[in-house]
Amino acid sequence: MSGGPGKPFLYVVVCAAGVAKDVGVLVSAAQGRGWGVGVVATPLALGFIDQAAVEAQTGYPVRSAWRKPGDVRPLPPADAIAVAPATFNTVNKWAAGIADTLALGILCEAHGLGIPTAVLPYVNSAMAAHPAYEASLARLRDMGVLISGLEPHPPKSGGGADTFRWEEALELLAPEVNPRG
Ligand SMILES: Cc1cc2nc3c(=O)[nH]c(=O)nc-3n(C[C@H](O)[C@H](O)[C@H](O)COP(=O)(O)O)c2cc1C
Repeated sequence: MSGGPGKPFLYVVVCAAGVAKDVGVLVSAAQGRGWGVGVVATPLALGFIDQAAVEAQTGYPVRSAWRKPGDVRPLPPADAIAVAPATFNTVNKWAAGIADTLALGILCEAHGLGIPTAVLPYVNSAMAAHPAYEASLARLRDMGVLISGLEPHPPKSGGGADTFRWEEALELLAPEVNPRG
């Protein structure tokens, strides 16, 4: 437990999808359930979130790039990871074992470390129709990743962001790590 006395620590990995601007909803929900929280953003997701607000909310820097050798680790180690929102791009690269962003490096390594990981993809149905996507989800499922039940939304529909249930990540992780035990 590394999120403070008796507190497990959750990494929220945020990708470059429109709903990312509301990541504070997940941070609050996790903190309310007893998690310490740090946010890891893909480089493109930095343009979608209010970094200063997230840092004020979590008390930790938003991580996006690898630290330099010798620099202290900015976040405690993760007890669990929530990937929300997860883009088509990051889902496919993660499943393929590509680690060209810090977020992907953390996700690829999490499997070998046995860190419980939940993913809330936010992808439109045209992208989701690409055969790589279903194959990627199947591979992540085989790796033990917990995957949300949210169906892809129609393209160019504005996305139905109101149907994105951030709390589902915590519900998926609860049987694995439950701060409130
Ligand atoms: C305004 C905007 C909204 C986007 N929304 C989504 C989305 O909902 N889902 C998605 O998979 N990609 C979305 N994209 C495309 C991703 O940003 C793009 O694929 C990017 O390469 C993802 O990078 P990342 O996976 O490293 O975060 C959006 C792009 C823009 C400009």
